[in-house]
Amino acid sequence: MASLRAFAALAGVVALTVAAPVPEPELAERQDTSAPFLHSAAVAHGKAWFGSELDTFSGEQYDQAFMTVWNDSRIFGSTTPGNTMKWEFVEPQQNTFNFSQGMQTVALSKATGKDAHLRCHNLVWHEELPSWVVYQPYDSWTNITLAAAMINHITKTVRGFGSNCYSWDVVNEAIDDNAQWRNTIFYQYMGKYYIPIAFAAAQAAVKSIGADIKLVYNDYNIEFPGAKQQKAVELVQLIKQYGIKIDGVGFESHFVFGETPGASAQMQAMQSFTSLGLNMYQTELDVRFPSLPPTPATLAQQASDYYNTIQACMKTPACQGMTVWDFDDAYSWVPSTFAGQGDACLYWANLTRKPAYEAVYQAITDVNCTVC
Ligand SMILES: *[C@@H]1O[C@H](CO)[C@@H](O)[C@H](O)[C@H]1NC(C)=O
Ligand SMILES: *[C@@H]1O[C@H](CO)[C@@H](O)[C@H](O)[C@H]1NC(C)=O
Ligand SMILES: *[C@@H]1O[C@H](CO)[C@@H](O)[C@H](O)[C@H]1NC(C)=O
Ligand SMILES: *[C@@H]1O[C@H](CO)[C@@H](O)[C@H](O)[C@H]1NC(C)=O
Ligand SMILES: *[C@@H]1O[C@H](CO)[C@@H](O)[C@H](O)[C@H]1NC(C)=O
Repeated sequence: MASLRAFAALAGVVALTVAAPVPEPELAERQDTSAPFLHSAAVAHGKAWFGSELDTFSGEQYDQAFMTVWNDSRIFGSTTPGNTMKWEFVEPQQNTFNFSQGMQTVALSKATGKDAHLRCHNLVWHEELPSWVVYQPYDSWTNITLAAAMINHITKTVRGFGSNCYSWDVVNEAIDDNAQWRNTIFYQYMGKYYIPIAFAAAQAAVKSIGADIKLVYNDYNIEFPGAKQQKAVELVQLIKQYGIKIDGVGFESHFVFGETPGASAQMQAMQSFTSLGLNMYQTELDVRFPSLPPTPATLAQQASDYYNTIQACMKTPACQGMTVWDFDDAYSWVPSTFAGQGDACLYWANLTRKPAYEAVYQAITDVNCTVC
């Protein structure tokens, strides 16, 4: 999301000249790309990736210091575009498709060794929809015309990005915080059946280009046993009962300091999906502080929350990979969404590391946490 540094980067401002008696060292001297390396360690311990989101919409790609870390394929071996593959970017007018912004992330993932596991995100979600979907004159959609528009979007977007995608988040966040089907425009016209319809359309589109792309359901607050997680199991069963393909479930893992579920709770939630034959992914991991600033003690607890979460994936054979959203507080979505909260990432805004980084490495390599 927007941040001061993002705007500075966009404007070509190299250093922010806020009155400072002592000159700050150049950011480029501070960004930490030293060992240990999270992606290399994850691969050495049997996982496909450790990755970080990239949002070219907020100008991250122009930030040299940030990109020095993001580019490093020993640290991050996979990425997910934060915004630019979403419906409003890809199909801003009905049946007019534009893949150019999403393709920026494809190109950067190829150039930095992340292209084998590019997690494409997302096809059907209730946010970041173009106005032609949401603000049609009242009642001008029917269940049939909206289904046709949704299927067209899925088909052409899957074909447009093609085999660049390792996986697609086909349906995103279809369950609300009361564990009911979220009352989206798709639900209003098609009921819960838009979900299997979307997966069927994605499956057909993948087949039509002869690709192998994993089809994923992605949501938050399903990472621990409870009503919402049970509803997600019901969602998977709804898709499978028609013989339609779903390959995996993404645990967003946007956690809050002090409320992060323990490793065994997260493993138990994973088990409810892996027992249905699915793969698991941690897709948008961060651990935010509900109030700032953190202290050494609360930073140690945050490290523990990260450690437990990564341990849940490491100890679940069907959990394929782990992705943070993103790695650096300067671009975190948290402060602009939750006022007064933040410091959720592995790196501080100045691109030095928090204890949580070492904790993640220790969880990956299965040693006790020394910083928790
Ligand atoms: C990051 O990688 C991209 C693609 O290779 C390259 O264009 C860019 O200069 C790199 N940035 C830094 C800071 O290394
Ligand atoms: C596609 O989107 C890009 C980036 O927003 C824009 O520069 C380009 O003009 C668009 N292409 C078409 C054909 O509209
Ligand atoms: C679509 O809506 C029409 C009109 O309300 C209704 O008769 C029909 O049963 C609906 N079709 C489906 C598949 O739900
Ligand atoms: C980076 O920022 C953190 C948090 O503000 C601070 O504790 C740390 O000293 C900074 N590191 C450097 C090298 O400036
Ligand atoms: C790791 O932690 C466990 C439980 O806290 C403890 O029993 C064990 O001795 C520790 N192992 C090492 C190598 O410190």
